[in-house]
Amino acid sequence: MSDRVAVLTGGARGLGLAIARLLAARGHRLLLVDRDPGVTGTAAGLAESGHEVTALVADLTRADDIARVRDHAARSFGAVDVLVNNAGITRDARLAKMSTDDFAAVLDVNLLAPMRLTEALGPLFRDGAAVVNVSSRAALGNFGQTNYVASKSGLIGFTRGLALAWAPKVRVNAVAPGLVDSAMSRAMPEDVLSGLVDRIPAGRIGEPDDIARAVAFLASDDASYVTGQVLFVCGGRSVAP
Ligand SMILES: NC(=O)c1ccc[n+]([C@@H]2O[C@H](COP(=O)([O-])OP(=O)(O)OC[C@H]3O[C@@H](n4cnc5c(N)ncnc54)[C@H](O)[C@@H]3O)[C@@H](O)[C@H]2O)c1
Repeated sequence: MSDRVAVLTGGARGLGLAIARLLAARGHRLLLVDRDPGVTGTAAGLAESGHEVTALVADLTRADDIARVRDHAARSFGAVDVLVNNAGITRDARLAKMSTDDFAAVLDVNLLAPMRLTEALGPLFRDGAAVVNVSSRAALGNFGQTNYVASKSGLIGFTRGLALAWAPKVRVNAVAPGLVDSAMSRAMPEDVLSGLVDRIPAGRIGEPDDIARAVAFLASDDASYVTGQVLFVCGGRSVAP
């Protein structure tokens, strides 16, 4: 157990919920940030189980909301030990059919928002703090997702650049999940989904807890000599032909 403070984006559901549960179980005081008002119920549920969890409804593409997150964290905790940039969106289409707006929207949430929030919380990070960015196995390439691939590989570039800039005070790493059972993957047509699962060497779709354990490792002092790295949690899909 610890009394470390963690800020987690996209904590209302999916991977974020699993990450929230695990960080709370490991004794973190948690601030969940999500544009979905349901994040308030998520936090209340975790608080009922005895964890210190608060929620802030905020759209991370808005500069004033980023400032609210920073002010809330400064007021409530005074310092931050862990930031997990997990919120993300998809707007899939072949490039010929993709609008510039859809390309920009994905970059805005998946790449620019983590950059803005990380920068805003920078002065609050304690020595030994950790940033974990949730990228994707898709950073290596995927059909119909040029915007998503650009955003998630950009997030890896951001991770590497920032790890150098902020060493030795703050470690910065990324987790790259493969296909995970969540609202995002369940939105796919069933035949497309089962075709993708067939290509996973581990022989199954990932569970949110698979990702949460990797995030919790990189956030913890067990990873104190790990920075600037990308941990692929994808059942081996990243090395499959
Ligand atoms: N599900 C997968 O198969 C998979 C695979 C690889 C990577 N990922 C990544 O993992 C992360 C979580 O994915 P998920 O499957 O849990 O998705 P999800 O859609 O279930 O959850 C994403 C959360 O982010 C929040 N969010 C979106 N835009 C926001 C904004 N502008 N401001 C604040 N909150 C915002 C949503 O409200 C939602 O609660 C994402 O970054 C996603 O790209 C998911």
